[in-house]
Amino acid sequence: MKVGIFYFSGCGNTAWVTQKTIERLTDSGHEVVFLYNLEKDFPAEFPKTDLDIFFSPIYYAGIPSLVVDKIKRLPITGDKKASFWTVAGQFSGIGRTFGAFLLKDRGYEVHTTHMIRMPDTYLPLKISQITEEQKKEIYQKAIEEIKEGVSALEKEEPCRVESKITAFIASLLYFPYLYYLRYVLSYCFISTNACIKCGKCERDCPCQVIHRKNGRPQWYKGCTGCFRCVNTCPVSAIDISWIGFSAGIFLGLIGLFFVSIYCGFLGSILGFLIKIIAFLFGFWLGTLSFQKIYQKLPVEKGLLMKGRKRVFLSDEEK
Ligand SMILES: Cc1cc2nc3c(=O)[nH]c(=O)nc-3n(C[C@H](O)[C@H](O)[C@H](O)COP(=O)(O)O)c2cc1C
Ligand code: SF4
Ligand code: SF4
Repeated sequence: MKVGIFYFSGCGNTAWVTQKTIERLTDSGHEVVFLYNLEKDFPAEFPKTDLDIFFSPIYYAGIPSLVVDKIKRLPITGDKKASFWTVAGQFSGIGRTFGAFLLKDRGYEVHTTHMIRMPDTYLPLKISQITEEQKKEIYQKAIEEIKEGVSALEKEEPCRVESKITAFIASLLYFPYLYYLRYVLSYCFISTNACIKCGKCERDCPCQVIHRKNGRPQWYKGCTGCFRCVNTCPVSAIDISWIGFSAGIFLGLIGLFFVSIYCGFLGSILGFLIKIIAFLFGFWLGTLSFQKIYQKLPVEKGLLMKGRKRVFLSDEEK
């Protein structure tokens, strides 16, 4: 069959899985007619295929906003079959279901979804730290999972899916995700004094939300949470600061306090909504202010991942 491939990869894991799947498809006698990185601009037209496979990493139990935005604007022609594959550290949450839903919404007939496990690039969690041995084991299992995925594609059989309860819990996490990434997380990133002002983070950010001032990076809104900047800085100078979060929570609570005093009379639902908005606005303002003034401070404190090993594919492995 003729296959088209769409993928996005923050730190290289999904790109690796995509490459290995292409090798498997080709070995099984299928023809891959195009490979399109969702970070790039759309071509005028995509060649005709029998099946399109989408590969997306999982961030916060969902799929990156970049993937969602691109699928929504994909120029699709004719009847198409699709399969949605996720690449996750532990579990896909609602990522697979949501991806399949997006594709159906664009007129695709979605046959299978699939998940491949790869090393976890979310470094704030200690669980992300693994040994080289464990890493190799994960790659070997991933190859088996890719084989399973390709044979399920050929049989048009759905692969294994997470339980409904897992999907439900993950969906609760997913909706605050967009707010969190766009308006909070990226403002808590900092570069430490180890920064050598090389500009790699600015050049490589898939959302172009990093801009440098006096050679050092500053983060703006619109991050997709891929951690590429963190994981690929050549001197591991990028970290997340607890001070940024604390500033956000502090201003959020102040907003909540004032609104509670002045809007207590507004009745339950309206008052509740205004309080949430006040908290989120304060949270955003706190982290934004932190991002604006941090570079002027001579201290490096409250670093969340200090000294933590970077887990990503080396150039040879890619
Ligand atoms: C911000 C962030 C959030 C993540 N959240 C999850 C998650 O909820 N579940 C999970 O299994 N893996 C999670 N991961 C791990 C990634 O899904 C996994 O490492 C994946 O292989 C990354 O692919 P990439 O290198 O192509 O970006 C997260 C990673 C990042 C950076
Ligand atoms: S990639 Fe690292 S060293 Fe280079 S400018 Fe960014 S923070 Fe500084
Ligand atoms: S700021 Fe960093 S984490 Fe956010 S999209 Fe850019 S490279 Fe990815």
